[in-house]
Amino acid sequence: MTKFDKTNVEGEFVKTKKMADLQHFILKAVDGSTNGVILSNESFPDVDSKQVQAAVTSLAAREMVTYKTLEKDLWTLTEEGEDIVAHGSHEMRLYDEVVKSMEGLKIADVGKVLGNSGKIGQQRAFKNGWVKKEGDVLVKKVDEKPEDTTAKELAEIKKQGTLANNEKELNELKKRKLISKTKVISFEISKGPEFALEIKKYETDLTIEMLQSGSWKNAPFKPYNFAAEGTPANAGALHPLNKVREEFRQIFFSMGFTEMPTNQYVESGFWNFDALYVPQQHPARDLQDTFYIKEPSHAREPEDKKYWNDVRQVHEGGVFGSIGYRYPWSGSESTKLVLRTHTTAISAAMLYKLARGTVEPVRYFSIDRVFRNEAVDMTHLAEFHQVEGVIGDYNITLGDLIGFMQRFFGKMGVKQLRFKPAYNPYTEPSLEIFSWHEGLNKWVEIGNSGLFRPEMLKPMGLPDDYRVIGFGLSLERPTMIKYAVSNIRELLGHKVSLDFIQNNPAVRLDEDLV
Ligand code: PHE
Repeated sequence: MTKFDKTNVEGEFVKTKKMADLQHFILKAVDGSTNGVILSNESFPDVDSKQVQAAVTSLAAREMVTYKTLEKDLWTLTEEGEDIVAHGSHEMRLYDEVVKSMEGLKIADVGKVLGNSGKIGQQRAFKNGWVKKEGDVLVKKVDEKPEDTTAKELAEIKKQGTLANNEKELNELKKRKLISKTKVISFEISKGPEFALEIKKYETDLTIEMLQSGSWKNAPFKPYNFAAEGTPANAGALHPLNKVREEFRQIFFSMGFTEMPTNQYVESGFWNFDALYVPQQHPARDLQDTFYIKEPSHAREPEDKKYWNDVRQVHEGGVFGSIGYRYPWSGSESTKLVLRTHTTAISAAMLYKLARGTVEPVRYFSIDRVFRNEAVDMTHLAEFHQVEGVIGDYNITLGDLIGFMQRFFGKMGVKQLRFKPAYNPYTEPSLEIFSWHEGLNKWVEIGNSGLFRPEMLKPMGLPDDYRVIGFGLSLERPTMIKYAVSNIRELLGHKVSLDFIQNNPAVRLDEDLV
């Protein structure tokens, strides 16, 4: 291999910097050598290295050349390093001054005489054993002028770009900020099977003109590249949350559920809280937890005055066998408009509606967005998607709830469940659901559930022996686990990368999910 030398080849490239001219340039150089050339970015210091790379790879793609890429460290001198090559090292300059001064060099004068070189020169000359201290002056410790290794090494680096087999010293000089490292990419280029001095222009399209003139018969066509990946089709993509949502929907449908209409983000405090027997002083109803609507701030009062009054009664004085909360219930608090904090508001409205007709066994579900005024962090936003399920039937029990949860999560491959007593104002008993997470090696909470309280169901007018199981979980958690997203802001919101949305794979809910 011979080193690429641009003086050996004639070419337009030096003037035009055009890709085609650069390629001709390379072809000529390869042609002129017996067994190939080494071309590096250094050969064209004023050309973007990517352009050189592109020229070589495109010639290789046409099989006109073959090449190997070599990567090598190139060391260059810093300004200080250059200064040392020209004027000697700091330590040598100090030594020379010490020799020059008849009575030794006063330590106090070092800075004056040598400027910036003084302090470091003194340190190194001491270390090298070239000078010693006598009282307050420096005198020489060796008679013969020592060799200035620093300057010598730097001169070699300046010439060679490296110090042969002396990585340690290179790093030492780098630490002293006398040299710095860059990478040089070079290509070993040889003739390929299709080598020629001219780049053949292939036809890529069969045109009307070619057909009319008959020139297609002899035209050189570019061969199809069946290995090429092709341009990705420009198409819409489903957000991961939508994909996981769809999986959940299919599981619900397979278990006989119907979907609740959740297409409203704004609810009255009545449906979001009061109907669910959440007292009006409950912390969840604070401004800090719930977003209230400014304009309009209130909903109309419900038309069903009996229900409205029964809910008031059950909070205030206790009816239907309950002692209630015994506080003055405010109608205007209940008409306040909120961004729904859970989709359980819809479940309540659905159960109220059910009570208005034939009360038969039902299975409802919904998956939609809810809002909570929460501090935003890696795993929390002020909004998330709630997966909610409701099962109503006569005389069902806590055992049915546990059994159902095992079947429901079992469908996603989540087999190990644990239940922990919990508290919700609207369910009794309430259970938090935990599953064993293999990756995290601990029990993680995956849902909340319970049997809706009589204080919620009876004012609606549901029969005494009709019971309703409810449960909720977030859609975000299983999605984050499924797609290995650790920061929720990468999943939802303005920081989401469109690439992530476009390229992530389809999903199946299985073993590793929750
Ligand atoms: N609403 C509850 C939540 O937001 C979920 C739930 C629904 C719990 C129904 C019990 C019954 O966490």
